[in-house]
Amino acid sequence: MRKPFIAANWKMNKTSSETREFISGFVPAVKDVTDVDIVLAPPFTSLAIASENLKNTNVLLAAQDIFYEEKGAYTGEVSPLMLIDIGCKYVIIGHSERRQYFNDTDEVVNKKIIAAKKAGLGVIFCIGESLAERDAGKTFEVLQREIINGLKGIDEKDIVVAYEPLWAIGTGKTATPEQAQEAHAYIRERLGILYGNNADEIRILYGGSVTPENMNSLMVCNDVDGALVGGASLKVESFIKIVTFRGEQ
Ligand code: 13P
Repeated sequence: MRKPFIAANWKMNKTSSETREFISGFVPAVKDVTDVDIVLAPPFTSLAIASENLKNTNVLLAAQDIFYEEKGAYTGEVSPLMLIDIGCKYVIIGHSERRQYFNDTDEVVNKKIIAAKKAGLGVIFCIGESLAERDAGKTFEVLQREIINGLKGIDEKDIVVAYEPLWAIGTGKTATPEQAQEAHAYIRERLGILYGNNADEIRILYGGSVTPENMNSLMVCNDVDGALVGGASLKVESFIKIVTFRGEQ
C-alpha cells in the first residue's frame, strides 16, 4: 500500500508573515491526519519561518529547487546542505516552470537529484508533456525521455514522481482521471524497467489544477498516489479539503 503524499507548491507566493499565518490555520486542522504525508513547499525566503512553525507537527517541509554544487561562487543559489540545515525533508526538482524559464535541462535535473539524494533529501521529481507534445501523440515519448535522463544512475529510495502535464498547470484544465491514470500507469511501467518490483512502492503524484472538487476523482485512480498542488494550496481552507479527501468512489 502506498501512503498518499500531498504537497503544496506555493511557487513565488507568500511572504514570511503570510507563511506563518497559513501554518497557524492549517496545522491544527490537519493534526490528526496520519494516513497522508503532508508537505509544504514555500519559497526559499519562507523556509526558516515555516521550519520553526512546523516543528513537532505532522507536516513536512520542502524546498522548490536546489543547486547541485555543495558550496562556492554560485551567486543566488542554494545548496543541499543549506536545505537540510533549515529543516527540509524534500525538494522539488525539474518542475516544468524551472525547465521552461530557467533552463533546467534533463541533465541539470539529473545532477540536482543526485546532489539532493547525496545530502539525504527526498526528491519530488516532476515530469510532464506540453499540449503540443500531447497533440502530436508524444506524451509517452516525453515521459520516457524525462525519466531515463532524469533518473540516470539514481536509485529509487526517497524518490516521489510528480506527473504534471504542462497544459493543466494553472489553467483550470485538469487531466481527466482516465488521462491521469493512463500517464501514471505508463510512468510506473517505465520505473519498473529501472527498478523492478520496487517501482510498485514509488508514489506518483498528479499535478495540474488540482482542487478540492476534483481531488477525490483523481485519487481513486490506481496509480495516482497523491497530488502536487499549486493555486489551490494557497488558501488554508482549500488545502485542508485537499489533504482530507475522502478517497472513495
Ligand atoms: P496548479 O495547481 O496551480 O495548476 O499548479 C500545479 C503545479 O505546478 C504544482 O507544482
